[in-house]
Amino acid sequence: MTSTPARPAARPLARVAEPAVDVSGYFALDRGLIDRTIFGDQALYRQELRRVFAPSWLFLAHESQFTKPGDFFTTYMGEDPVIVAMGRDRRIRAFLNACRHRGMRICRADAGATKAFTCSYHGWSYDMAGKLVNVPNAEDYPAEFDREQWGLTEVAQLDTYKGLVFGTWNPEAPPLAEALGGMTWYMDAMLDRDPEGTEVVGGVHKWVLEGNWKLAAEQFASDWYHVNISHASALMVMSPSGKGPKTEIVQTPGRQYTDPLGHGAGFPTHAKSRFDDRVVHGYYDYEALRERLGDARVEGPMTTGHATVFPNFSYLPVNGSIRVWHPKGPDRMEVWAWTIVDRSMPAEVKEAQRLYNLRTFGPTGIFEQDDGENWSECQATAHGFMAGSMTLNYQMGIGLQAEDGVHPGTTGRLYSDGAARGFYARWRDLMNTPAWHEHQKDT
Ligand code: FES
Ligand SMILES: [Fe+2]
Repeated sequence: MTSTPARPAARPLARVAEPAVDVSGYFALDRGLIDRTIFGDQALYRQELRRVFAPSWLFLAHESQFTKPGDFFTTYMGEDPVIVAMGRDRRIRAFLNACRHRGMRICRADAGATKAFTCSYHGWSYDMAGKLVNVPNAEDYPAEFDREQWGLTEVAQLDTYKGLVFGTWNPEAPPLAEALGGMTWYMDAMLDRDPEGTEVVGGVHKWVLEGNWKLAAEQFASDWYHVNISHASALMVMSPSGKGPKTEIVQTPGRQYTDPLGHGAGFPTHAKSRFDDRVVHGYYDYEALRERLGDARVEGPMTTGHATVFPNFSYLPVNGSIRVWHPKGPDRMEVWAWTIVDRSMPAEVKEAQRLYNLRTFGPTGIFEQDDGENWSECQATAHGFMAGSMTLNYQMGIGLQAEDGVHPGTTGRLYSDGAARGFYARWRDLMNTPAWHEHQKDT
């Protein structure tokens, strides 16, 4: 009898290639047309995990969630569970949250502090750098068993942008700054108001929506159009007169940013800068902000905007909401949402921002509920054969996008599908491009 020597453990024994679908036929973006199949098809969903989520930079956590060695937070990259942890060297790393022995979830807590991760199945134990440090009954393993080969699978690249921690499985991905591209000018309207930076407060709110994750990501990139209609009752409640401004459709001036990386942001342009919450509004020195960020940002993306960093990280600067749309099959997403604040804010201002965020965009927020209802109902109607294969309309603003000389990159009118078209162009191109794991040799 001959025995086969163990292969290096970090590599899969074999890759079973799933066939890839060319998704070009689902799009005629120059005419603003998208086939609805992309939201509900199971095979496309599997391909999306392989070719959109696995190769892209994904938001993991905020740096302020890790203050001392041993702090950890568990989340997902696509449907892959991951642990994000600060090591003894104070470096933040991320690992697949699956034991190398039989694949058990190694850490079952949402967050906490620990010295090691010990699997509750057979007791393999890993340190904060992912190294396998203890194996019960080790004497019963063969001599060639090498612990060094059986550490946790580490996320290939991890980097931060102004407090936001991103990771990618893709060893060949461009650096994070390059992947964010021109979007950082817009992101800084939320992340760079304070020389001390930002932090998150109040934990993470998590809820389930019965809709495809792209519906939410697309809307946060692009859709101001729904505001007058979907949120009419919320706007009425929030108007000082109680009657609301919404007896007629308001044409709010503003711009919408789109780029070839799939990112998008929309924002009204106000001559007067303001934050909606009275306490937060009173806190800011708008002249100092103009000095720091420039007039265009203070009058635009700093206030009532919405944005998506491709693929599934979105935020609302004025509400202080940052969130991830975790895919859970083609029909379902989990929303994970934090409240982000400036570090220098006094405690009562941070608390005011947290409460304002919850009132508006928490799981029971008066705006959030409207949005979730739309996405769930869009998904539900797509289950029928006829309704599920309709062509959808993304034609708003075609031909109206350009450099405006004020906002960097390409922008269009606030009421536009421009950033949605950009988002789907990026999604289509990634879906049609073999990812690194499809061409990397097992050497
Ligand atoms: S599955 Fe983790 S020790 Fe066995
Ligand atoms: Fe909305």
